[in-house]
Amino acid sequence: MVDNDELSARLDTSDEWIRTRTGIGRRHVVGPGMSTVDMAVEAGRRALQSAGSADIDAVVLATATPDQICPASAPQVASRLGLGPVAAFDVNAVCSGFVYALATAAGLIAGGVSRRVLLVGADAFTTLLNPDDRATVPIFGDGAGAVVLRAGDPDEPGALGPFDLHSDGELSDLLVVPAGGSRMKTSQNPADSYFSMQGPAVFRHATARMAESSRAVLKQVGWTVGDVDRLIGHQANIRILHATAKQLGLPADSLVVNIERTGNTSAASIPLAMVDGVNDGTLQSGDRVLVTAFGAGLTWGSTVLRWPGVTPA
Ligand code: UT7
Repeated sequence: MVDNDELSARLDTSDEWIRTRTGIGRRHVVGPGMSTVDMAVEAGRRALQSAGSADIDAVVLATATPDQICPASAPQVASRLGLGPVAAFDVNAVCSGFVYALATAAGLIAGGVSRRVLLVGADAFTTLLNPDDRATVPIFGDGAGAVVLRAGDPDEPGALGPFDLHSDGELSDLLVVPAGGSRMKTSQNPADSYFSMQGPAVFRHATARMAESSRAVLKQVGWTVGDVDRLIGHQANIRILHATAKQLGLPADSLVVNIERTGNTSAASIPLAMVDGVNDGTLQSGDRVLVTAFGAGLTWGSTVLRWPGVTPA
């Protein structure tokens, strides 16, 4: 765990700036030799324990920081969990990854391809950052969270959907690691190998898109804003969460918030907020929950569910 004072000792920033501008107080950072797969395996193990069964026929890993650029990391997660030769693949929609992967897993089940899916959101996002960049280092943290999805009745608690998913590739440069992919494998400019973010522009898009997408999914499901008990938004910045709730007309206390102790954990953000929301009693069985996320790509999306009576392991 790295707190703001530790960062302020080596970067031109302060606990006061980070807290007031982002709501973040501390974040987990992977140690040397630890990776996305290591965190995903631990989260997956706990989700299987909570579900009471390791009977799984697909593993979907939402991540933008796979252990290697090729292959995907989900097969390593499946094999380290001892799940056998199950379907396993990654979904990369960066900070929207968990919502996109929920839609993917729900689609596998609805299409009869899978019966029970282990869905993990995991990112070692700090491995993408320039350690000297005060614009990104205080914002991001590492983590993993997981859920098990199964086929069920649309009226039972836990039933997911509909989904509202979008992207805008014209704005991909707003959050980007320029080098390392097929377009520019290596670069003479070290900055190209690090994640860069145009924070204020991203802030505006994040708020507008999450509010717009939330409204769209509420319309699809036939809920009014007044029907929503809890809003689980991507934990990017407490001010974005408050602004999104305000745009929707939801009270701030409907938000599930854990950003103070996590930072922005990208694809892990929503499942970690879910676990913390259950553990601190914010999320109660039967709650009508709106889930919304926004991230690099750009990507954004939303879904709804009736909160199931789950106990995190
Ligand atoms: O998860 C994917 C989506 N990501 C996001 O949603 C992130 C969206 N963006 C944000 O959350 C915010 O834009 C940030 C938290 C990244 C930045 O907050 P901001 O209020 O937009 O700050 P800013 O970039 O406009 O900078 C304001 C001032 C500048 O100083 P001047 O020019 O006013 O003198 C910055 O140089 O704050 C300065 N600043 C800092 N000061 C202390 C920027 N970063 C820091 C820092 N510590 N870490």
